[in-house]
Amino acid sequence: MNVKIRKEEPCDIPFVFDLIQLAFENEQHSDHQEQILVDSLRRSPEFIPELSIIAEIEGKIMGYLLLTKIQIVNHENQQIQNSLALAPVAVLPQFQGKGVGSKLILYSHQIAKELGFRSIILLGHADYYPKFGYVPASVYAIKLPFDAPDENCLAKELFENSLKGIHGIVRYPKEFGIIS
Ligand SMILES: CC(C)(COP(=O)(O)OP(=O)(O)OC[C@H]1O[C@@H](n2cnc3c(N)ncnc32)[C@H](O)[C@@H]1OP(=O)(O)O)[C@@H](O)C(=O)NCCC(=O)NCCS
Repeated sequence: MNVKIRKEEPCDIPFVFDLIQLAFENEQHSDHQEQILVDSLRRSPEFIPELSIIAEIEGKIMGYLLLTKIQIVNHENQQIQNSLALAPVAVLPQFQGKGVGSKLILYSHQIAKELGFRSIILLGHADYYPKFGYVPASVYAIKLPFDAPDENCLAKELFENSLKGIHGIVRYPKEFGIIS
């Protein structure tokens, strides 16, 4: 199976919308609004086109991943690091378990590093992300601005020690609808 990973183009947008909806359809921990979130994030200043990423198999879009710019701030609300939120990653149900999600995640790390980002934060499956180097954000004393189990609030250093000394709270773009 030949999987091509590439940047999303404007003509991909309607296909991505349907794909996200289908991927999350049977997902228990979902509000089933992820496709709408992605549409609004594309219009936000925090959207980075190079980090809106497609997986294509035989010319058809089967997977999608978005990294959006976020801030880690200290207790005085001062920015201490520009970071990225991974939300969402989605693969069409019939193509899950074939390595597509892994390829999207690894590619996104590479582009994020090339763009100079130092970390990624996410809320997600505790069992899926550790193999890509994600650990509980609490390891770095980084808090997410909502109540969620520690094991689901995950952070990744993109460079060795790039979260060292970064203790703070994550600030999401308003499109995430997080009141903090
Ligand atoms: C999560 C998702 C993106 C993974 O993509 P994928 O292409 O199926 O994943 P891969 O084939 O690269 O990896 C498969 C591995 O991940 C594991 N895995 C897949 N989904 C998982 C989940 N929800 N929780 C834990 N492990 C999971 C598989 O068991 C498999 O493990 P193995 O490599 O040890 O056999 C995909 O299943 C999906 O779109 N799910 C619905 C939407 C979703 O939940 N997105 C993530 C929100 S946090």
